[in-house]
Amino acid sequence: MDQATLEALLSDLPLGAVRYFDCVTSTNDLAARWAEVGAPDVSLVVANEQTAGRGRFGRLWFTPRDAALAFSLILRHIEPQALLPCTALGALAVCEALNAALPPFFPPQIKWPNDVIVKRRKLAGVLAEAHWHGDQMVALILGIGINVAPPSVPPAEQLEFPATCVEEVLGKAVDRWGLLHAILERLLYWLPRLGSAEFMMAWDARLAFRGEWVVVTLEGQPPQEGVVLGLTPQGYLRLKDTRGQVHDLQAGVMHLRPTRYEQGDEYAR
Ligand code: BTN
Repeated sequence: MDQATLEALLSDLPLGAVRYFDCVTSTNDLAARWAEVGAPDVSLVVANEQTAGRGRFGRLWFTPRDAALAFSLILRHIEPQALLPCTALGALAVCEALNAALPPFFPPQIKWPNDVIVKRRKLAGVLAEAHWHGDQMVALILGIGINVAPPSVPPAEQLEFPATCVEEVLGKAVDRWGLLHAILERLLYWLPRLGSAEFMMAWDARLAFRGEWVVVTLEGQPPQEGVVLGLTPQGYLRLKDTRGQVHDLQAGVMHLRPTRYEQGDEYAR
């Protein structure tokens, strides 16, 4: 891939401007710097490799060369409180782009709030970051990382949750750039509909682990256990605990509850 080929490939989409890099630290960092110096709304930064890709809570995000998709969109007209729906926007677009290629019994799902899973394995993550200049939000940077080919799946000891890649679930080689186009097409469909009833229904329909026991952790807070009931109208995660009390969570990391699974079950990690 190169700059001119990527521009040609994406020329039918209503993007701002596009920048392609062979290797960067993090596309979110480059996008933030570009936003500072006037990148147009809905501009895109794509990289073939990241040396310091990051996930939520400062975790590392593995992006070896030629094997993954790593890109960031610069969104100008988003309210700071829309970080959560924007995260879902990225995850929903990935789900829908993959859905067309997958058999109906393996629907891609959203492991709230930001992971895309297929067959209960993670293959993509979304990192939405607000970029500020004083008290002015310059842009929301929506970063998306997808494991496409097997080398993009991190080693097992680095995983918080079982992982896979698009080629493994499809059982065939995948055109990374065709997939990028399909994801952006879905993302640009949903962007003007962010937060609408249609959007919330599509997000809710993709929610993983509905009716299952989970534990949601967030640093500095006690873990919250409960059965997943669904999303609130704001996109918070609604759980019901053992006493029947309902909890609406705004943030956290979701895991299946270990006690309901066999000891050593990889999903319970
Ligand atoms: C997560 O699962 O915690 C989110 C992972 C987000 C990774 C993407 S890759 C493109 C963009 N650049 C980064 O450094 N992170 C995001």
